[in-house]
Amino acid sequence: MSKLKAMLIFGTRPEAIKMAPVVKECLSRPDELETIVCLTGQHREMLQQVTDYFDIQADIDLKLMSPNQTLAGLTARCIQGLDEVLEQHKPDCVVAQGDTTTVMASSLVAFYRRIPLVHVEAGLRTGNMLAPWPEEMNRRVTGLIASLHCAPTERSAANLLSERVDPDTVHVTGNTVIDALLWAVDRERANDVQWREKYASLRDHRMVLITGHRRENFGQGFNDICESIRQLSERYPRVEFVYPVHLNPNVQGPVHDILGKCTNVHLVAPAPYPEFVWLMDRSAIILTDSGGVQEEAPTLKKPILVMRETTERPEAMDAGAVELVGTSIERIVGRVSALLDDPVEYAHHQIEKNPYGDGLAAQRIVDLMLKQEWQK
Ligand code: UD1
Ligand code: UDP
Repeated sequence: MSKLKAMLIFGTRPEAIKMAPVVKECLSRPDELETIVCLTGQHREMLQQVTDYFDIQADIDLKLMSPNQTLAGLTARCIQGLDEVLEQHKPDCVVAQGDTTTVMASSLVAFYRRIPLVHVEAGLRTGNMLAPWPEEMNRRVTGLIASLHCAPTERSAANLLSERVDPDTVHVTGNTVIDALLWAVDRERANDVQWREKYASLRDHRMVLITGHRRENFGQGFNDICESIRQLSERYPRVEFVYPVHLNPNVQGPVHDILGKCTNVHLVAPAPYPEFVWLMDRSAIILTDSGGVQEEAPTLKKPILVMRETTERPEAMDAGAVELVGTSIERIVGRVSALLDDPVEYAHHQIEKNPYGDGLAAQRIVDLMLKQEWQK
């Protein structure tokens, strides 16, 4: 049998973190696979932080990011650039992860060229096309096109089956985010002294870690998120609030305007993944609208308050680790306060087992790729 020529395409921070274990697994099997790593460069600095940490060498980098890019402009550039790459390299399959513009565009160009698509993290759904926006639409497009759906959980697999996707193409693999986290967390615990020195200003105070970047929250939602944090920082002067601020200008603006002068709010640059893993581990509570962070935090037994009205990751919510608080000031302030004030409430949010994976997802995904009929 000849080698499977697989092109792995990604472009943003979370895709890179979740694809890194798949890249490593593919590269560890050179007798069976020819691996081509293609970056769209939808993100720039935030992508490079991850490729540096996991030592991923890109074969192709389209460097597509432009400041404050529009969805349509980015989509158009991705489709054009990726189509040329597929024309040139003619892979046997394309592998893409998640729900970003990069994934949606990779799916479309693979479809136009009749190249099988492997979807990593398949089947997540909120059922609401506007939340997360535009990601719910992106992942549905990819779900229509994929030839192999690697669903992280039974629930995500069931979502696909309910959409009448061919059951033979749907497999539960676990989420590669846990492969990456388990690899990183021991290393960063070993680097504890270095990180404690860097974050000496936290002293031994409790810390709330914050991230936020969802497009559907821009405007009033984001202002309210920042106002909630401001009120919390006044109410709890001996709690430190660490906020690595996403580089999107729609995020940077309100965050710095509203929180810039709060002495116990630490606005820092997007943290390189190892540093962020340490920060999650060091935190008492995580306040976020991120998808990936919802999946990671339960492994570290951290309560997570999610600043969204809905989630495509209901497993950790059902298990008690995650609670949705939306963007209302009253709810965010109320629920963070409850977790800071009430140890019983806090303990309820610490769960024993992460529902998203066991660290072996990438191995299962590559095994499945190599078993497909389209494998020559
Ligand atoms: C994108 C994804 C979102 C994902 C998020 C992860 C889409 C539509 N959105 O949202 O699903 O959750 O990434 O973080 O695919 N920027 C930089 N440097 C960087 C990255 C971003 O300066 O390294 C700035 C640029 O001005 C850029 C803007 O942020 O134009 C927005 O980036 P974009 O990828 O379009 O959207 P995100 O909000 O990052
Ligand atoms: N992350 C990081 N540095 C940060 C914030 C997040 O490395 O400053 C990591 C985090 O551990 C998770 C991923 O980035 O693996 C989540 O990315 P993001 O929240 O940007 O996107 P989403 O998961 O919402 O698509």
